[in-house]
Amino acid sequence: MKKPTDTFKLTNGVEVPCIGFGTWQTPDGEVAKQSVLDAIECGYIHIDTAAIYGNEGSVGDGIRESGVDRKDLFITTKLWNDSHDYHACKKAFAESMKRLGLEYLDLYLVHWPNPVDIRDKFEETTKSMWKAMEELYEEGKVRAIGVSNYLPHHLDYLLSIAKIKPMVNQIRIYPGSVPQENIDYCTKHEMLIQAYSPLGTGSLLGAKPLQDIADKYDTTIAKLCIKWSLQRGFNPLPKSVTTGRIKDNLDVFGFEISDEDMAILNSIENFGEAEADPDKVGF
Ligand code: A2P
Repeated sequence: MKKPTDTFKLTNGVEVPCIGFGTWQTPDGEVAKQSVLDAIECGYIHIDTAAIYGNEGSVGDGIRESGVDRKDLFITTKLWNDSHDYHACKKAFAESMKRLGLEYLDLYLVHWPNPVDIRDKFEETTKSMWKAMEELYEEGKVRAIGVSNYLPHHLDYLLSIAKIKPMVNQIRIYPGSVPQENIDYCTKHEMLIQAYSPLGTGSLLGAKPLQDIADKYDTTIAKLCIKWSLQRGFNPLPKSVTTGRIKDNLDVFGFEISDEDMAILNSIENFGEAEADPDKVGF
């Protein structure tokens, strides 16, 4: 990847701009709208939100107020855990689109595999919900469908019943949190791996081992982590509400991390909070 408009290609040919703008934990209202406006102004063309983030309305306002042609942007949102059912999925999608103020979506993801209230009915609810996802795709309302936070055993089932296979798995990945088994599984099944929390939700930013490597490239830890993600073949989705950082996080194309430093970053010890187990979380 040489510039922000370079893309990863999904199995159906849809192109995904290589750095997405994350909006998890971005407060709804003026902050979300302005950060999206800033991001688009800086050159992001890929914006990632979710129904549960509670900011789809303001994200949509930012998208529209940017004045950039809809077809030149790549927009993702996600289905929340209360809608793992055919009719509920269709309804949730329509509501998300209304909040976003969009006619079509580029990527629709199932946010979590295994909601707590229906955990004993994983197969039945997944089947019902995925049928709705497939129809949204076939009707042209979404250009690509996929999942988030899925582990290989969830994907085993989904792949066994899917007429249209998930094209993406969006998971938490940063130096210190590298779920290699899941990465290998998704790669084998030709799913694009999107990396949320590529900066460890900020926890990486003071880490000495990362600072030492960043210094070698005269860059920051944030940019080093985003570049590491790209060089690993992931699609990073850094989040920021700060104009300077938003701009900075896109400026990662002027250096290349050496194989030796990639190996160090690949094996760095865990930072930040332990990853939530989707089969045990309380939502
Ligand atoms: P803020 O949004 O206040 O600018 P992640 O993308 O891993 O979820 O990390 C997001 C966190 O990292 C946020 O707290 C964000 O702060 C912070 N952040 C994002 N980009 C940078 C940067 N370039 N330098 C320092 N902190 C950053």
